[in-house]
Amino acid sequence: MSGLRVHPRGRPLVGDLAVPGDKSIGHRAVLFAALAEGRSTIAGLSGGEDNRRTVEALRALGVEVSDRPGALTITGRGRAGLRAPSGTIDCGNSGTTLRLLAGLLGPCPFGARLDGDASLRGRPMGRVAAPLAAMGARITGSAGRRPGELYPPLLVGPAPARLRGIEHRPEVASAQVKSAVLLAALAATGPTRVVEPARSRDHSERMLAAMGAPITIEDDGPAGVGAIVVEPGGGEAPLRARDLAVPGDLSSAAFLLGAALLLPGSRVVVRGVVDNPTRTGVLDALAAMGAPIERINRRQVGGEPVADLVAVHTPLRGARIDGLLALRAIDELPLLAALAAHAEGETVIADAAELRVKESDRIAAMAAALAGLGVDVEERPDGLVVRGGRVRGGRVTSRGDHRVAMASAVCALAAAGETEIEDTASIATSYPGFAAALGSLGADLDEVAGAG
Ligand code: S3P
Repeated sequence: MSGLRVHPRGRPLVGDLAVPGDKSIGHRAVLFAALAEGRSTIAGLSGGEDNRRTVEALRALGVEVSDRPGALTITGRGRAGLRAPSGTIDCGNSGTTLRLLAGLLGPCPFGARLDGDASLRGRPMGRVAAPLAAMGARITGSAGRRPGELYPPLLVGPAPARLRGIEHRPEVASAQVKSAVLLAALAATGPTRVVEPARSRDHSERMLAAMGAPITIEDDGPAGVGAIVVEPGGGEAPLRARDLAVPGDLSSAAFLLGAALLLPGSRVVVRGVVDNPTRTGVLDALAAMGAPIERINRRQVGGEPVADLVAVHTPLRGARIDGLLALRAIDELPLLAALAAHAEGETVIADAAELRVKESDRIAAMAAALAGLGVDVEERPDGLVVRGGRVRGGRVTSRGDHRVAMASAVCALAAAGETEIEDTASIATSYPGFAAALGSLGADLDEVAGAG
């Protein structure tokens, strides 16, 4: 198992760089291209393992994928062009792969078995199985930690008949669940309406609309929680193939920007990052902590707002991150907790119980990681309280969670002493070049074999 050793030299981070393509958009780009009719070229797909899992799953389903450096060409033949896989589809660590595949395959006339690693096997799947079953899909899972909940491996299909449209009102806002339902809805009889308690990331809606899907958003005001409606008409609604450039991942960029905020003299520019308002809670949270990130060169790339982001060293103060802000920053909450350790005063992260069912229990994992670095941190059922002050450094484990590993590394860069982070191989699921990118900006950290 590999690890990271972080030497806090206090040197500024300076530079201008790009990050891998957005993971959420990447999954959708390849999956929707496979469902379309015709050839799509996707540029800028991250080299991360999670996106790879989706590509390999599509290959296992008979989709023609050709890989050239920097671009992937997918020849879609519609859902009817998908073939039964010859074995289990291994989704690795990727919840998005597994949940979106369930929606893709729910209407298909063959069965598939979807599985993943130990972390994914511990993540709840009832939230995606229930609406798909209500649409008429056959879907079963395994028992696990919580009685009544379903876990991978999931068996999906064969569909006994054409699925029917439903109205789905999920208890928690989840873009993965929403996307799975929308994918199945394209093949259903009658309309499907999804009404979320709050608007989760909307990449699927944007991309499906751009590919000609019969999707409309009934927006009912500033909260933006109106229904998303798919009306497929007589048969499966076809998607148009199209070329797409995947913008940079804000969830990866945030670690570099956050590190720059902590170290005096720093100025880091991350180019071409997705700036979609359903994702930018981290930027709003940082502004609330006294550190606005500047957006320059604002533009549209592939139907998504994109900007270059500039972070300069800024002293941080504690803030409250809850409600819709917590949802819009859900994947960056580990980083915000790590930054809060260096802020003046108290930071409260609340309304974020969903963190407990991510790649790890991120509330428990971050509480333990920060405590290991000498931070005053309190674990709550739905979040964390972090009291900023001197960070000592020390030994932490990521619990195999990429974002816990990267958040710990950022926190450690501004600590008093050295830190060793165990079990960091998972960083490659989203950001394979993370340590090298920080190194290129001037940070001193090395990858060590055998830690943990
Ligand atoms: C994702 C949605 C979010 C997010 C995850 C990626 C997506 O999860 O945390 O990292 O690509 O749809 P939920 O759908 O569980 O909220």
